[in-house]
Amino acid sequence: MAKLPIIIDCDPGQDDAIMLMMAFANRDTLNILGVVAVGGNVPLDKTARNARIICEITGQTDIPVYAGCARPLARDLHTAAEVHGNEGMNGVDVYEPEMPLQKKNGVNFIIDSLRAHNDGEVVLIITGPMTNIAAAFIQAPDIKTKVKEIVLMGGGMAICGNVTPSAEYNIYADPHAAEIIYKSGIKTVSMGLDVTHQVLASKARIAAMKAIGNKVADTAAAILGPYSFFDSEKYGTDGGPLHDPCTIAYVLDPSLFQTKLCNLEVETKSELTLGHTSVDFWHGMPEDERPHNTYWAYGVDDEGVYDLLNKCLKSYS
Ligand code: RIB
Ligand code: CA
Repeated sequence: MAKLPIIIDCDPGQDDAIMLMMAFANRDTLNILGVVAVGGNVPLDKTARNARIICEITGQTDIPVYAGCARPLARDLHTAAEVHGNEGMNGVDVYEPEMPLQKKNGVNFIIDSLRAHNDGEVVLIITGPMTNIAAAFIQAPDIKTKVKEIVLMGGGMAICGNVTPSAEYNIYADPHAAEIIYKSGIKTVSMGLDVTHQVLASKARIAAMKAIGNKVADTAAAILGPYSFFDSEKYGTDGGPLHDPCTIAYVLDPSLFQTKLCNLEVETKSELTLGHTSVDFWHGMPEDERPHNTYWAYGVDDEGVYDLLNKCLKSYS
């Protein structure tokens, strides 16, 4: 069976790192065209470095890593270093990777790579601010037809926000880019806080990763310790929500998730609620006013996600 061509756009970031480990463990079914870093959790130079560190730790240094946009389309970069650490990889002793960063700009890579494929062929995974993909769509609108679907981590409905009371970080960081994605006419699958907060990296689950006994699993456990601590303290839960790996878990096994096609709009003007995602889950609005533009994830087999994650981590032994 032909491998699924995917482009991963991310801001590693601790949970982005786990997502990359999962993706890289499935190159027998995923044709990873490239990883593109964006300014997000930490500045671009660090997200581009961290993506290459994960390539080296997992032995996947043939996967090209590109740097895209350093800041959002229309606002300054707001990082999340308080969550991920100043280097963006709490739990990992970061270093300058030997693996080179590609010279081509990440946005141009996205455009050229999509143009080299057939219509409806490539899946885009976005787990950071959506600046790179939005910039590519602005620069080359023709590439939209090449995208099969966009599977993204972002937004919140019942769990409204994590960086402000009403906005989730990836959307808040670049609401204008998010609006471009959701109004692109491309099928999107949204892994928002409502579902990621059902996938908690509990102490028992981290212990199970530690028991795997290889360098990649050890690194995942080392990341999830501090990562979980921040959110466990904040939410009073046993473990933090595993946000970004939900995207790859969905691509690998959509049956793990329950989704509903509905409308999602992004607040791009209000200072108070900037980045809020208004999800019309109950279809209260006329479809011609609020077109159904995303498969909103609302349920998940969290045990199944961790079984899949551990299977991926064991594959590095
Ligand atoms: O709100 C969670 C998202 O923001 C995750 O993608 C995390 O990595 C941060 O980028
Ligand atoms: Ca991220």
